[in-house]
Amino acid sequence: MTIHDKPLIAIVGATSKQGRSVTATLLQSQRFRVRALTRSKDSPSARALRALGAEIVTVPLELGRTKELVGAFEGAAGAFLMTPPIAPPDTSEAPLGRQLADAAVEAGVGHVVFSTLENVEKITGGTKYAPHFTDKAEVADYIRGLPVSHSFVMLAFFYTNLMEYYVPRYDGDTLLLPIYLPEDFAAPFVDPLTATGPVVLEIFSHPERYNGKTLPIVGDIISPREIVDTFRRVTGLKAEYRNAFSRDGLLRYFPEFAPNELLVRETLGMVEYAVEYGYFSGEHDLGWSRRLDPDTLNWEQFLRTTGWRGEKRAFGL
Ligand SMILES: NC(=O)c1ccc[n+]([C@@H]2O[C@H](COP(=O)([O-])OP(=O)(O)OC[C@H]3O[C@@H](n4cnc5c(N)ncnc54)[C@H](OP(=O)(O)O)[C@@H]3O)[C@@H](O)[C@H]2O)c1
Repeated sequence: MTIHDKPLIAIVGATSKQGRSVTATLLQSQRFRVRALTRSKDSPSARALRALGAEIVTVPLELGRTKELVGAFEGAAGAFLMTPPIAPPDTSEAPLGRQLADAAVEAGVGHVVFSTLENVEKITGGTKYAPHFTDKAEVADYIRGLPVSHSFVMLAFFYTNLMEYYVPRYDGDTLLLPIYLPEDFAAPFVDPLTATGPVVLEIFSHPERYNGKTLPIVGDIISPREIVDTFRRVTGLKAEYRNAFSRDGLLRYFPEFAPNELLVRETLGMVEYAVEYGYFSGEHDLGWSRRLDPDTLNWEQFLRTTGWRGEKRAFGL
């Protein structure tokens, strides 16, 4: 088989944490070619993907780009679709997801994988506000009605949220970890940088097996108390949990949220949903991704692999 005989997979958000994992895993498998879609082909992240062997295509991930997206999906046997972080009051996430799916269908892509989440609006009868979940669920519903073979992945909370968005801070010699969950509530978490790729590789390797399916990706089910205990044990640092679950707690530790009341509501709505209803609805087999890839990192392995000691880390550019 020459390189040109290998099926081509187009990856939206290829420089994202999820996208990078998918790109690297597909290329390392040597079973697929990868076309990486990015806003900026000269960014360090895009250059890193090119060095791995990906073809880089510039397409802004925004509304009104259907024609460029169709061109970027042309010739692809599969497409991995995801939506970037979009905060309210911006409501472009659902239309953007639909645009990605429409473009994949128009280009004749064989199988699409969309990174989705649960429909919080429907599950909670509209009592919890979490549009970045519900919008993805609505895109998934839309894709179910399109004439294309499709699967969905559904990732747990990212471990990386504590490095990127909810960063610990020192009080004297003690590191305080403000976490957006009650101390003893066990929630599903995952490392998007290593866990997404193996699942998506499996799906694109057997699209007929996974057509119509939603696959959860979970690395650990762990409470903030266990997160902090494990952190202390692995790093040897003094560390304590702080409550960023209530409005007061969230704004005490992350005052930068305050100017965007809708973002505060969304963050609280998301975590209240997770605590009261469960992050994943009951129908999912949360052990599936670990059985597929026994190397999926639990929290302790994530800490040991990354060497994280509480500092802020950026995953973008
Ligand atoms: N955090 C969690 O716990 C969690 C859990 C489940 C699902 N999610 C969902 O995962 C998605 C984010 O995935 P990720 O964390 O892997 O992405 P990420 O690392 O934040 O990267 C997003 C990528 O999207 C591209 N992009 C295009 N337009 C953008 C824009 N307007 N703003 C920011 N990035 C833009 C950027 O690539 P270029 O610059 O190369 O174009 C960037 O690399 C969100 O939809 C989020 O809701 C998050």
